[in-house]
Amino acid sequence: MSNDFAHLHLDNTLYDLPIITGTTGERAIDIRGLLRDTGCITLDSGYMNTGSCQSQITYLDGEKGILRYRGYDIADLAENCLFIEVAYLLLTGELPTLPELEQFKYDMTKYSLVHEDMIHFFDHFPPKASPMSILSTMVGTLHDFYPEMDLDEDPYGGITTTTARLLSKTRTIAAFSYKKNMGHPLIYPRADLSYCANFLHMMFDRPNMPYEIDPVMVSALNKLLILHADHEQNCSTSTVRLVGSAGVRLYPSISAGISALWGPLHGGANAAVMRMLENINADGRDYQKYIDLAKDPNSGYRLTGFGHRVYKTYDPRATIIKKTCHDVLKTQKISDPLLDIALHLEELVSTDDYFIERNLYPNVDFYSGIIYRAMGIPTNMFTVMFALGRLPGWIAHWQEMNLDKESSRIGRPRQVYTGIPDRPFVALADRC
Ligand code: ACO
Repeated sequence: MSNDFAHLHLDNTLYDLPIITGTTGERAIDIRGLLRDTGCITLDSGYMNTGSCQSQITYLDGEKGILRYRGYDIADLAENCLFIEVAYLLLTGELPTLPELEQFKYDMTKYSLVHEDMIHFFDHFPPKASPMSILSTMVGTLHDFYPEMDLDEDPYGGITTTTARLLSKTRTIAAFSYKKNMGHPLIYPRADLSYCANFLHMMFDRPNMPYEIDPVMVSALNKLLILHADHEQNCSTSTVRLVGSAGVRLYPSISAGISALWGPLHGGANAAVMRMLENINADGRDYQKYIDLAKDPNSGYRLTGFGHRVYKTYDPRATIIKKTCHDVLKTQKISDPLLDIALHLEELVSTDDYFIERNLYPNVDFYSGIIYRAMGIPTNMFTVMFALGRLPGWIAHWQEMNLDKESSRIGRPRQVYTGIPDRPFVALADRC
């Protein structure tokens, strides 16, 4: 392989495939002309090794455990920023100045209500409807209540009325989905509260029992949302891009992303972790039983919260979340047996050859649920929390995809057909 081309030898012909180098030195073999030149496609189930686009939003190095949004290290952002500052960064490419941040805060308040007609929808979901299905449905429906195409603005212009509405209203819808699930009256947003404080207020305030907003919980939530805000071409973000590439507008594209996130192998893992830890607890803390089950290739069982497609070392988000988890429980004087179980499980796994050989470390979902529990957020809301955090990333990718001619081509993978090649038609009367 030369510096600029990879050489492919196929059927006695040598093909030069250009090498594309990213700004941090990662290299990709450009196969876009392969089908035209050779008649061959590439096969890469699960897109293990396929770059679907070039992107300027998030950089991650799975070997070194690096995660950066727009060039800024995730630890610096989580330590020093508000979630909406990070949302601004992801959407525009730059951190906001003070006046820009003030304007953005104002927008978050201005657009925080949802249309009263949408409120009726909440009444017609079954009593125990999943908050994720409510979220996905309602976000898709925003398209009809707030027509995106009618606005006299650049739809891909970073912060727009459309994006600000989506960021603010999704938070309201998320809290309303919880209230609906509880059968409680809806609590409306307040103009004097920050993005995260307002969310906790809408979740936990009650007409007969006012909720006291705790700055420790606000700060922990802020951190969690920042840590989830983007993660380049993961399953849900790729879904948003793929759906958007067919020309679908922002709100329904995001609704599709929410559905993709729901899966237990993706954002649904945070809820599955809690169930796993609870099962271990109920089972007399028989850790080895669960570890052995996960190692048995025939069991189909996995230790949820471990492993990642890209990270082959400790997930940098998990490092920060683990520390935040300790801090929150300590300052709130909460003792949660699930934290002890999680810590012990991690310790056992870290010395087990099976997990060492496969580079299986805790991921972003392993400790986050314990913090949400401390906040009073129930397990069935955990993936909604993830969606709230991931929202700015999804929007930024949808906009970037639409602006880039190459990656805005309709997404359409190929296949290798392995079915029956050809056979004569048999009329219904002759089939036996
Ligand atoms: N427990 C036990 N074994 C595991 C686990 C796990 N959590 N994760 C992977 N493995 C094993 C696999 O069985 C496989 O073993 P083998 O080589 O002997 O067949 C090997 O490690 C590689 O696993 P793959 O499934 O090929 O890895 P992939 O990159 O496709 O999957 C995934 C990544 C889905 C995250 C996987 O590690 C997993 O299922 N983890 C548990 C679910 C989870 O925590 N998901 C959240 C991920 S973070 C996020 O999406 C926000």
